[in-house]
Amino acid sequence: MSRLSGHQPINRRRAILSLGGVVLGASLGYVGGNALALGGKGDKQTYPAAPDMPADATVHKETLTAIGQSRQLVPAPAPATNILGYTDGPTIIRLRHGEWLEATLNNRLQEHTTIHWHGIRLPNAMDGVPYLTQAPVMPGDSFTYRFQPPDTGTFFFHPHCNTVEQLGHGLAGILIVEGDEERPHDHDLVCVYRDWRVDKDGKYQPMMTDAGASKAGTFGDHRTINDQVQPVFKVPSGGDIRVRFLNVDMSRVVDLGVVGADAWVIATDGNPLPPQKLKSWRLGPAMRADLTLRMPKEAGTRIQLVNYYSAQPIVMAELEADGTPLDKPAFEPAALKPAAIPEPQIDGAETFTLRLSASSAPAQLPPDLVLPDGSTLRYADALCLSPKTFWAFNGQPWPSASHEVLPPPLVTFKRGKTAVIEIINQTPHIHPIHVHGHTFKVFQSSKGDVIPHWADTTIVAPKERVKIAFVADNPGDWMIHCHIIEHQETGMMGIFRVA
Ligand code: C2O
Ligand code: CU
Repeated sequence: MSRLSGHQPINRRRAILSLGGVVLGASLGYVGGNALALGGKGDKQTYPAAPDMPADATVHKETLTAIGQSRQLVPAPAPATNILGYTDGPTIIRLRHGEWLEATLNNRLQEHTTIHWHGIRLPNAMDGVPYLTQAPVMPGDSFTYRFQPPDTGTFFFHPHCNTVEQLGHGLAGILIVEGDEERPHDHDLVCVYRDWRVDKDGKYQPMMTDAGASKAGTFGDHRTINDQVQPVFKVPSGGDIRVRFLNVDMSRVVDLGVVGADAWVIATDGNPLPPQKLKSWRLGPAMRADLTLRMPKEAGTRIQLVNYYSAQPIVMAELEADGTPLDKPAFEPAALKPAAIPEPQIDGAETFTLRLSASSAPAQLPPDLVLPDGSTLRYADALCLSPKTFWAFNGQPWPSASHEVLPPPLVTFKRGKTAVIEIINQTPHIHPIHVHGHTFKVFQSSKGDVIPHWADTTIVAPKERVKIAFVADNPGDWMIHCHIIEHQETGMMGIFRVA
């Protein structure tokens, strides 16, 4: 069995179809197809131009092959689980600030994919949104991303179409841009949180249910850090530890805490924050927090990373003091180097209001296409549109237009000017709202004082109004959406334009 064909990630009937001379790798329900052949935008779309890489750039090259793999998620005797991952490259890419990343995506899936570099302020052409910033990368095809991350920090990357299935089966990687520490840590620990939708036999449950998608999301029942349940990480006794905590789950909220040591939050979504003593820090899907802490000196002592977003706090992972204790002066949390993000000028800026609501409007989709073999193909899925609609921005669910054109932008921000978005949550559920291409400052909430902080994703609680601001300095059409992926894929998604 080759690696190419051995993978059956999605529990639906698959077929290789030939339609109008174009070979499609299709599954019943969605397709990695050629949209042009299906009457969609496809190749007619003009996409933004890729940035030029200077000849003297320092380049970090990676090959990221999206492919089915097998991983022992649930301990034996349960069988291994088929997951999707990026091989031929580390799951964690570490760059030095100033380096360019040249990452070639090879698509060995049976459907199209792309890579979205979540939280990176990069040129529009590199943002990885199929049909908006680039053509989807078809099965067997490749695409090379080239960009120079302007900011240091803890980021991640993931596909941006049929994300429920692709990300739900594990397709994501971590991108760390180093160079933000004034005082180095003794150990740098990456903790990737996700709750797999697998049962105790390692078998997938449906990634998305109507009941979940229309409420708080569909939840897994196999919470992991770095794919392990409650792992224990050995770190230097008495050492200064940086914990980069990433919530890459599609629906779970984490209230991150540390038991057994004092810890400070030093970055939010990768962006420096003056150290804040940690009690508990709320992280919705896609959100990150970097912590700094000093380990106890006595070897064998453990401290816990816990999740308080639950009736009983849940231990997610443990850190165990290991080896001869390091002899260091008393611990003071050190701030990271300040961010180099343009500071928004909130006074006098225009405010755009974004209302989050439920939607009962049916998505305006063309009927399914019946293929020669009698199977049906949804136009909607081929174009990354939602098959169902439960959510809306300002009363408009995605898609708001027919499949021929992308919906018009919700708003156009003047390039170079400060944009303020007031997000109003009119639903009974939490929504982590993510803005592409820009890092924003969260500066106001109707629920009380917020610690102003930089972010690319921010949680808006039921009945809450949150104000965010950023300098709209990155031209192009960008996505804004909820990062509970089921909400995103059932309407809570839109485009904003910077021009
Ligand atoms: Cu992490 Cu548009 O997504
Ligand atoms: Cu949501």
